[in-house]
Amino acid sequence: MLTRRKLVAGGVILGGAVLAGALNWRRAYNRKLGPPLKLIPGKTQPLQLTVAERPTALPCFGGHTLPMWSFADGTWPPVIRLRLGERLNVMLENRLPRADEYTSIHWHGLRLPNNQDGVPYLVQKPVLPGEKFHYNFMPPDTGTFFFHTHCNTAEQLGRGLQGVVIIDGDITEPYDTDIVLFIRDWQVDLATGQWNPFVTLRGAGRAGTYGPVRSVNGAVNPEFKLPASGDCRLRLINGDPTRVMKISIEDGEAAILAIDGFAVQPLPFSDWSLGPAMRIDLVLRAPETGKIARLIDQSMSGRVELAHFTSIGEPLSTSDFDPAPLHAVRISEPDLDTATHLDFTFERTDEGQILAALADDGLGGALGALCVSSHGFWAINDRRWPDHDHAQLPPPLALLDRGQSYVFTLRNKSPFTHPIHIHGHTFKLISSDKLTRPEHHTDTLLLLPDETAEVAFVADNPGNWMFHCHIVEHQENGMMGYLRVA
Ligand code: C2O
Ligand code: CU
Repeated sequence: MLTRRKLVAGGVILGGAVLAGALNWRRAYNRKLGPPLKLIPGKTQPLQLTVAERPTALPCFGGHTLPMWSFADGTWPPVIRLRLGERLNVMLENRLPRADEYTSIHWHGLRLPNNQDGVPYLVQKPVLPGEKFHYNFMPPDTGTFFFHTHCNTAEQLGRGLQGVVIIDGDITEPYDTDIVLFIRDWQVDLATGQWNPFVTLRGAGRAGTYGPVRSVNGAVNPEFKLPASGDCRLRLINGDPTRVMKISIEDGEAAILAIDGFAVQPLPFSDWSLGPAMRIDLVLRAPETGKIARLIDQSMSGRVELAHFTSIGEPLSTSDFDPAPLHAVRISEPDLDTATHLDFTFERTDEGQILAALADDGLGGALGALCVSSHGFWAINDRRWPDHDHAQLPPPLALLDRGQSYVFTLRNKSPFTHPIHIHGHTFKLISSDKLTRPEHHTDTLLLLPDETAEVAFVADNPGNWMFHCHIVEHQENGMMGYLRVA
């Protein structure tokens, strides 16, 4: 029998403000999360990642071979898989073919020591061609994460410098399968087999430049064969530099297990807006033999089938769908009574408005060089990052006291969506005046046009932590800053 309960409805009252309709969600399944896990040190397996140009013919490149930049030989994207308690021990080597093309690895979403965070100039020296850098730390959380460079990001991400990190140990009962779906576009001109520009003036001043080739794990609408009627864990990662997707599943029943890798009480899944860098773990009841379930992006550009699921074997289950939950997160609970409140406003600059308008009039080409030298489209609290990279460091956006709880009010005063990412910490979404979402933990909050949302966290990790929009063309054109926790 399917037992479900209703989640509490209603607004959240904070500092006198009522943000109505914020965190209502439809219905939850009944089974409770497992207790938070203990961090017990395990073994360490050293890994090597060599950043290099590797000419690659991904299936979605339509027969062309492109000069991808990647971390490893073999299948793209690379997947690093550890158990909770094991150390991530990676030797990065830069073998890129361009002199001065430095690199680094940012372990997105992992709450790690500051000197492992991979932001050049801010926390480590940039790794130049011919150089190495050793990362070695114990990830404190289970879940689905990813890694990418934090240098010349539009191009390095555009060419494929990214991979998946999975920290295992979070299940309370095994699922019938566990698969990664790494979703992104490619800036490839399928007629010529060349890269398109990774940045455009129009894209940088608006929602970003969308790639024409859609893919999951490097293929167009791939088929995944699942055990018939099994409960299958799907780890969806939006690895795109730009595109916000609205993900749903047609002809299949699914539940949300985790958001950005962090467990939630399983929730019925209908659709989810997945911005760049965001992840969602689902459990899908695989279709019966002969039927097909489909993964769909239903965003403004229309319905796109990203992948489809078929079934093999004898049906595994005939019971009602009541998915096994994960273990609860092990993140400090912010104290809302004593929290310090800070405001952050995300906006386009005046210069950004003018340049975007000129680009609309077809003057984009002439203004391209100006744009690249100005980097001034976007700002946080009226401050724009001075350069597209990290060599010139501005002062921090805010100084945070170590151990103190914070509530950040995030205000989007622009007609575009911004996935707002914090390094080294995990937010808890506590209210929003727009989208209906469950309360959950997140490292990248999708802030809708004109939305105001509140997130809370304990500033328990000392260091300089980037705080930026994860639409790379916004990030590299001003919408980037950092917080200092001391
Ligand atoms: Cu995934 Cu600062 O980024
Ligand atoms: Cu943005």
